[in-house]
Amino acid sequence: MEYVLYEQQDMIGIITINREKALNALNSQVLDELSETFDSVDLDTVRCLILTGAGEKSFVAGADIGEMSTLTKAEGEAFGKKGNDVFRKIETFPIPVIAAVNGFALGGGCEISMSCDIRICSENAMFGQPEVGLGITPGFGGTQRLARLVGAGMAKQMIYTARNIKAEEACRIGLVNEVVKATLDEEGNVTVSAKENLMAEAKKMASTIAKNAPIAVRNCKKAINDGLETDMDKAIVIEEKLFGDCFETEDQKAGMGNFLEKDKEKKLKVVPFKNR
Ligand code: CAA
Repeated sequence: MEYVLYEQQDMIGIITINREKALNALNSQVLDELSETFDSVDLDTVRCLILTGAGEKSFVAGADIGEMSTLTKAEGEAFGKKGNDVFRKIETFPIPVIAAVNGFALGGGCEISMSCDIRICSENAMFGQPEVGLGITPGFGGTQRLARLVGAGMAKQMIYTARNIKAEEACRIGLVNEVVKATLDEEGNVTVSAKENLMAEAKKMASTIAKNAPIAVRNCKKAINDGLETDMDKAIVIEEKLFGDCFETEDQKAGMGNFLEKDKEKKLKVVPFKNR
């Protein structure tokens, strides 16, 4: 693939959007390659994914403005659908996806991060939906997911004003969970970049997730996502079914058996969870 890199490290898959010269902007080819990459993830061995952008400056600086500039109404709608289909694939992907946001996350970049389960970012990250300044609406789910994540009032303010916000503000409003800084020496020189620390933090979180029972983690993702789309009476039924689905799995037997173990040593032992 030209614009998407994929690497598996133990039970973690790392997807990197690799179009650094254009600040990792999403053109049709990047979107197609992303879709193919998600399709090719080995779900028997990978338990958590990390999505990031190549380089230190930008996660994704939006949909490709050059490609969009000459689209007709019908083509614009089709381009929106292309992005939405990929982002929905990410959102409903069976295993968790962590967005490691290493710089600009504007327009389609903010939108792709919001289709992931969890967002953490480097201190130089900047989020925003600048579309109204370009004469369009957000088109890859921004009007929907931003309002669900940070509330309608804050989403409307960000989208109508097209004002970009820095990492700390994104954290304050709940758009990201954590801001990762560079490591400095006593003189204030950077010894480890914010991007390197961000990736280390993302991998740490991913491996913590990967150590837990995989069927239970998948069912939690589905319960939260599906439950948020319906009313509470139906949502708790969704949870009941997914809760019940965990019983009789090897993981449930091992996890609970371990807890009930009288032997203290064995009780504290990490359970080697399986995908069954
Ligand atoms: N599309 C296409 N190319 C882009 C791009 C984008 N969204 N963002 C950056 N680039 C390209 C630039 O054209 C430039 O290419 P050249 O070197 O060939 O000229 C290269 O990336 C570097 O960009 P800059 O020189 O502009 O870098 P900078 O540091 O001066 O500025 C920036 C960085 C503030 C992020 C600026 O590039 C910028 O404002 N980019 C556009 C951000 C944007 O508006 N995103 C929303 C797009 S619309 C959208 O996403 C719609 C949707 O919801 C589906």
